[in-house]
Amino acid sequence: MCGIVGYIGTSKAIPIVYSGLESLEYRGYDSAGIAYISNKTVHIVKEKGKLINLKEKLDFDANTNVAIGHTRWATHGVANKINAHPHSVGKFAVVHNGIIENYISLKNDLINNGYKFKSDTDTEVIAALLDYYYKENKNILTTINKAAKLLKGSFALGIICSDDHDAIYALKNSSPLIIAKSKSGNFLASDVPAILKYTNKYMLLDDTDMAKITKDTITIYDANLNIVNKETLTFTGSKNTAEKNGYEHFMLKEINEQDKVFTNTINTYFDGTIDSLKKNFGFLKDFKKIDIVACGSAYHTGVIAKHLIEDYANIPVYTEVASEYRYQKNFYDKDTLVILVSQSGETADTLAALRKAKSDGVKTLAIVNVVGSSVARESDYCIYTKAGIEVSVATTKAYVSQLTVFSLITMYLGYINKVIKKDELENIFKDIKKMPKLIKEEINNYQAYYAIADKIYKNKQIFFIGRGLDYANSLEGSLKLKEISYINSVAYQAGELKHGTISLIEENTPVIAIATNKSLVDKTISNIKEVKARGAYVIYESFIEPVDKFYNEFIKIPEVHPILENILTIIPLQLLAYKVAKNNNCDIDKPRNLAKSVTVE
Ligand code: M6R
Repeated sequence: MCGIVGYIGTSKAIPIVYSGLESLEYRGYDSAGIAYISNKTVHIVKEKGKLINLKEKLDFDANTNVAIGHTRWATHGVANKINAHPHSVGKFAVVHNGIIENYISLKNDLINNGYKFKSDTDTEVIAALLDYYYKENKNILTTINKAAKLLKGSFALGIICSDDHDAIYALKNSSPLIIAKSKSGNFLASDVPAILKYTNKYMLLDDTDMAKITKDTITIYDANLNIVNKETLTFTGSKNTAEKNGYEHFMLKEINEQDKVFTNTINTYFDGTIDSLKKNFGFLKDFKKIDIVACGSAYHTGVIAKHLIEDYANIPVYTEVASEYRYQKNFYDKDTLVILVSQSGETADTLAALRKAKSDGVKTLAIVNVVGSSVARESDYCIYTKAGIEVSVATTKAYVSQLTVFSLITMYLGYINKVIKKDELENIFKDIKKMPKLIKEEINNYQAYYAIADKIYKNKQIFFIGRGLDYANSLEGSLKLKEISYINSVAYQAGELKHGTISLIEENTPVIAIATNKSLVDKTISNIKEVKARGAYVIYESFIEPVDKFYNEFIKIPEVHPILENILTIIPLQLLAYKVAKNNNCDIDKPRNLAKSVTVE
């Protein structure tokens, strides 16, 4: 949510900061802006809407080697130019990712001290606070440190001051922030893609850390202004993962990477032997109850995992969205494990649920994609998914990598709990070997799914139905579709439809019915016939060949063990959603009102 980037060095700063913002635009695209110092004066250029609007206003040749930039996902105040960052008061300009929870009381105090505010943002209050303390002590570090002690909430800040044109300052609490060193200068940024053109070496700031960055030096301070050392990390993924590589959209590129992502994730934790599962997942063996907590698509992997772990490992699993879990009463016992699932590892609700579980004394496991993210660092155990950088707001490959990890966990727990016997396990191992090819075949079969999309994209609502695991898959299919196409879509348990929702079915309403559970397929088909009788345009997804033609379209998927089947179920639905959105001219990688990383509550 919001992306910030800062550069100071020997090169012209505007092109570098602008290109950093391009890599971070997935974090928010309501407005964008850059502040830079030239002739000892802070200059600010900002514009409403996507980054491209800012581009037209920038002087890329401006004589400056120090700049900070921002791309906004609006929280306080509408998405207009006044509320766009950077915000400036006196000699300071500030870019901010996060939310200042006590900004109203701080603002009132500042108003009482004669300050006037132009915007509705909490960030302008930070700039005013800096100005206020700076007038008192004339020391930038002390000023930032004093202000930091008053700010409550989440913030990653980039700060420049016209009295010090040789430095950028950074401050972090609960919002991600990296600092990076390159040959031609130094950076701060919300995420690694912003620096990859220049360096793959970076440091992570901890909460309450502050940094002073000059063109040659990086000095990091703790909350008491003691200098602290940070480990330098190396980003090992490919630089290209943050580029489209010829695909029209990141989403399409990321869908196409899913066979490799599956292989990478499997190869990291499994070498074809049960011993490798014991080595990587052995710490799970003593837990008797599991809570899985996450948001959005990551939550849907938890719903799938609940079915898998309960069915194949006999362990009770409770799955809940993090925004509810964090505030409700939870029934832990000494053998409970709380699993947090997150692509970004920075989702505010997931992080809060993790902190709650920890403060309740419960062990936690993170299943996270972004290395070194807050959820990864704060959990007792961490399993990294190996999806690489995911840029599209609609998750695809990270989702598949999360399902892959849950497949491995289920195999391990199922085996040690003696629900999955050796023969069955070996059959799953065989299916794992087949999976990359099957995934690729599905992706290559895109024209079949696109043809269906071409028939349904004008509809105002599209339903998904399924039972058990197929309902869990429906949830994700439906979210993918509505998130990027803006078509209203609801996922329903197939048997529940007739208790109300079926009244919404009209002539030609598309209903996507998933049926991969052999023991429930006949029940689901009965429910399909109920909607068909009411005029629905039925798209049936299964590996089970229908005996009669109760459908309009058939998405045939390959059959593998149920522990792996969910991966093959979602891929056609991702491609279907993609084409529906494309036909509707939607901004696929940056759907309206959304951002990739939701770091606010
Ligand atoms: O980074 P996270 O996995 O924690 O994000 C969770 C959700 O915000 C995310 O999955 C969201 O639902 C996606 N946009 C769905 O495509």
